[in-house]
Order: sequence, then structure tokens, then C-alpha cells
Amino acid sequence: MSVKKRHSDADGDTSTDLRFRKTPRAAVEPSGPLPRFQGSGADQTHGVHGSPLQRMRMRMRQAFTPSQPVFNPSMFAGRNEVLTALIRAIEDQRLHVVTYGERGIGKTSLMHILSRLAREARYVVRYASCGEETEFSDMFRAIVRDIPLLYHADFAPTSDASEEGRSLADLLPEGTFNVPQLTDVLAKISGTHVLLILDEFDRAHSPAFRRSIAELIKNLSDRSARVQLVIAGVAGNLTELIEHIPSIRRNIMGLQVPNMTQGEIEQLVHNAETVCGMKFTDEEIGFINLVSYGSPYIANLIGQHAGLNAIDRGDTVVAVKDIILAVHQAVEEIRHRVTAKSVHFVTEAETFVPSDTLGLLARSALYNGGRLDIARLEGLLRDLGGSEAFLRNLSEKTGLVGPIPYDPAGAYSFNEEGVPVYLWMRQMARWLDSASPNLQSLQRSISQCD
Ligand SMILES: Nc1ncnc2c1ncn2[C@@H]1O[C@H](COP(=O)(O)OP(=O)(O)O)[C@@H](O)[C@H]1O
Ligand SMILES: [Mg+2]
Repeated sequence: MSVKKRHSDADGDTSTDLRFRKTPRAAVEPSGPLPRFQGSGADQTHGVHGSPLQRMRMRMRQAFTPSQPVFNPSMFAGRNEVLTALIRAIEDQRLHVVTYGERGIGKTSLMHILSRLAREARYVVRYASCGEETEFSDMFRAIVRDIPLLYHADFAPTSDASEEGRSLADLLPEGTFNVPQLTDVLAKISGTHVLLILDEFDRAHSPAFRRSIAELIKNLSDRSARVQLVIAGVAGNLTELIEHIPSIRRNIMGLQVPNMTQGEIEQLVHNAETVCGMKFTDEEIGFINLVSYGSPYIANLIGQHAGLNAIDRGDTVVAVKDIILAVHQAVEEIRHRVTAKSVHFVTEAETFVPSDTLGLLARSALYNGGRLDIARLEGLLRDLGGSEAFLRNLSEKTGLVGPIPYDPAGAYSFNEEGVPVYLWMRQMARWLDSASPNLQSLQRSISQCD
């Protein structure tokens, strides 16, 4: 039965299915063949039939992964300095580490690669991702369940208990347990070093959970335990942990994951080229650098859309028009992830703030770990009453931004974390539309605003 026939039946139907009858006829009549999946749902790319472009389209998903962290070291671009600092803190200084940075900057990817390197160095590594409901006992019971009893000083590797495949979890009391009870178990680890990676720490909202982690860091340090925590979160987490127990300051290293350099973004694109066979010229990489501004998330998002756009044109070389279209596609995609409340605040803000200024504010936040620094923004906001008065006004009138609690420099941040990416990408889309897309002139006009 054709689609058309079914709907004409439905139109004449006297049933109470309003959903069907209300549907405008034009909207349900297909204007042509429906779009189709281009590849197979099976994960392999080898042996897939189809044209070279179809195979390239499939490989594009592994080449750029905007919705997933990087697991594969060959796809992990740059970050040598951050990794060196992390390794040094862990193995030379025996510190606990809090890595922090905005969502999308690459913390989880970094944690995965760090885990791999530590395992290669024969550390016992356990990775756990925090969530809103994360509860101390549950999380740590699951973590130590994976650590064999043979690493406990009281159980020789040949003893019966460890041979039975038992774990440190067997030494914990039933039900919930507290930090001292956990420390008693962890402090007796011997014959190895254990790295506990707690990712997405900012998502664990319970103050009790965070206080327990501060206490655990203190206890493990006091007992010189062979267990180190590596926490990935946002800047506020580090401040908060230290506020709970100020003396742990000397046991923790805070490490901000910086935006990637232009060379690192270039490497990210080259890694992707190797996987998918699509070519990005220097000019296109220049555009990706300009748009992504050191964010590996944006670089992946734009790279993937641009590559797919080139394939849609039947080309294996990305052109500037593919990038411009990609920026528009990305704006659409990101807009749907921003809450209606924030979209409303943006509309309100635009009644008294030039939209370029909003875009540049967002850019500043993206580059400074989410911070809107009073001093840094003075140049941009001088004509709008000065940065301090401007940010206070914007905060009071719209709720788009707010002061960072207890910030010593009185900095502000956007109240919703997805908003800076949205505003910045939207700004880029506008600039790309208004000017003839010339890389040099765009670079000039952006840097004038810095
Ligand atoms: N070093 C890197 N090389 C290539 N892509 C990266 C790198 N770091 C992060 N990415 C990409 O950036 C995006 C965000 O990374 P992720 O690790 O999830 O960040 P976060 O945990 O900070 O939110 C993902 O698309 C990921 O694939
Ligand atoms: Mg993450």
C-alpha cells in the first residue's frame, strides 16, 4: 500500500485519532525518496561494499568523534606537556591530582590515555565516572572489588584467600562504610601502586561525597598509602576540596587542561585524514583552528561535518564552503542542547549588548576555563561601561552570567556550561556569512577584539 493511499484513508476516517486527522496533508506526502542509511550497522569498515566515497563516509565516524572521548592513542593529538606534568606529579611527587577544565576540553580522553600509560608502567588503575547519585561506599566498593587481595600486605600471594580470587572488597564491612574504614584497607596495599581515576567529579553534587573525598586524600597522604587519586572536574572542585580540609593543599596538584595549541589541532585533523582519506588543505585547517579556538570538541564537530559535506558533494578534498556549512550545522546542533531559559536570556541580552560582544565574551570564557575575568575583558567592555559594571548589569538583568562564588578576583562565568560554545559558534557563523570568507581578514578582525 502506498503512503498516499494510507493517508487518504485516514482523512476520511471518522475515528477519534486526532493525531492522524490533524496532520496537514502536505507534510506527510514524501517529496521524493526518503533519505537512507549510507552504511551498515555492523562496526567493520573492511570488506564493506560500495563506492570509495561511501567507504570514506564510514571511516569519517572513526576519524572525528565529537560525541565520544578518545580511547585510541593513535587518535590522541598533542597533550605531551599535560601528560608529562601528570606523570611527574604521580610518580616523582606522589601527589594526588585534580585536573580541571571546561566540558569538551579533553579531560576524559586524557584520563583514558593516562590510564593506559600507567598500566603499561604496571600501576593498578581503576577508572570510575561520577554521577549525580554517586555514593561514597557504593563507588569505592566497586573500585576495590577489582583489586585482588594479593596486593594487601597481610595476604601473601600464595595464601589461600588470594588464590580464591578474592578482592579488597572482602575486607570492607557490609553496607556503608566510612573513610577511616576504607583507608585502613587501602593503606595496606603493597607490591604495587594504585591509581584511582575519578572522572566527571563535577557531576557528583553531594557535598557529603565531596567532603569524603577530601578526607580520603588527607588520610591516604598521612599514611603514605600507595594509592593516588586523579580527579577530573572543573576549577571549583579543586577550591572546594581544599576548603574542606585546607591542609591537603600540599598533597594535591591542581592541573588545568589548557586549550589545544594550533599545532595540536592541526595534528588532530591530520590524524583524522590518515583514518578517513579525506584531505584538508592548510587553508581549511586554518579555518578549523580559528573556529575551534583550541577546543578539541569543536575541532571534531566541524571536521566531521565538513568532511561529510565534501562527500555529499562527491569530493575527497574539503573546501571552505564545506567548513562554512559545517559551522551552521554545528550551531543548529548545539542550540538544541542549550536550555530554553538560556536561549531566552540570550535574546534579552541582545536588546542591550551588541551581538559581536556576546560572541567575544563567549570566546574569552572558552579560552579561560570558563572564567570571565574582569581585567582581561576591560579592553572589550570599556565602551560599555567597563567590564565590572557590564558583567554585574548583565548578571542582574538576564541571568546569562553570574559571579563565580568566592572567586578572589571577582570573576564571572556563564551560568550554563553549553552557552559559551553556542554563542561563539553562532558568532562565527555570522562573520563567515557577512564577510567574504577570507581567512586573513577574519583573523585580523577577531584579533583586534582580543
Ligand atoms: N587529545 C585529543 N585528540 C583528539 N581529540 C580529542 C583530544 N582530546 C579530546 N578530544 C575530543 O574532544 C572532545 C571532548 O573530549 P572529552 O575527553 O570528552 O572532554 P571532556 O571530558 O573534558 O568533556 C571529544 O570529541 C574527543 O574526541
Ligand atoms: Mg568528560
